[in-house]
Amino acid sequence: MGNRTFAMIKPDAVESGKWGKIIDHIIAEDYKILGVKMQRMSEAEARAFYAVHKERPFYEELVEFMSSGPSVLLVLEKADAVPAWRDTIGATDPAEAAAGTIRAKFAENKGRNAVHGSDSDENAQKEIAFFFSEAELILNQ
Ligand code: CDP
Ligand code: MG
Repeated sequence: MGNRTFAMIKPDAVESGKWGKIIDHIIAEDYKILGVKMQRMSEAEARAFYAVHKERPFYEELVEFMSSGPSVLLVLEKADAVPAWRDTIGATDPAEAAAGTIRAKFAENKGRNAVHGSDSDENAQKEIAFFFSEAELILNQ
C-alpha cells in the first residue's frame, strides 16, 4: 500500500469553522501534511473531480455543494495512508460512522459530511495530481 492519500475538508466544515478542529485531529493522528491549500472549486472542477458518480442520483446536489464555498485540500502521508484515512474519517453517513471518527464528530449528514478521502492508491494519485503539482509538496520533513 502507498503512503499518500488525498483528503479534503468540505465546504460545510470550512463554513462552520470546524475545520481547525479537523486539522488538530489530523495532526493528533500523526499524519504528515505534505500539501495544503484552501480553494473554492469551480462547478466544472467539482463535476470532473466527482465524475465517477455522474450517474448517481446525488451527483447534481454534490456538485452544487462542493462548489458552494472553499474546501481545504490536503495531501497526507502515513503508512497505508488510504485505508488509514478512511478509518480516521468513518462511514459516508455520519449516523453510521464509528464513534471518534471525523465524520461522527463533525459531519452534518450524508451529503454534507465534512471530509473526503481517496478510496484506492490509484485514485489517491489521480486526486493529488488534480490539485497539486509534485513541486508544491513539502517532502523530507
Ligand atoms: O465520500 P465517500 O467515499 O465516503 O462516499 P462516496 O460514495 O464516494 O460519495 C461521495 C460523496 O457524495 C459523499 O462523501 C457525499 O458527500 C455524497 N453522497 C451523497 O450526497 N449521498 C449519497 N447517498 C452518497 C454520497
Ligand atoms: Mg468516495
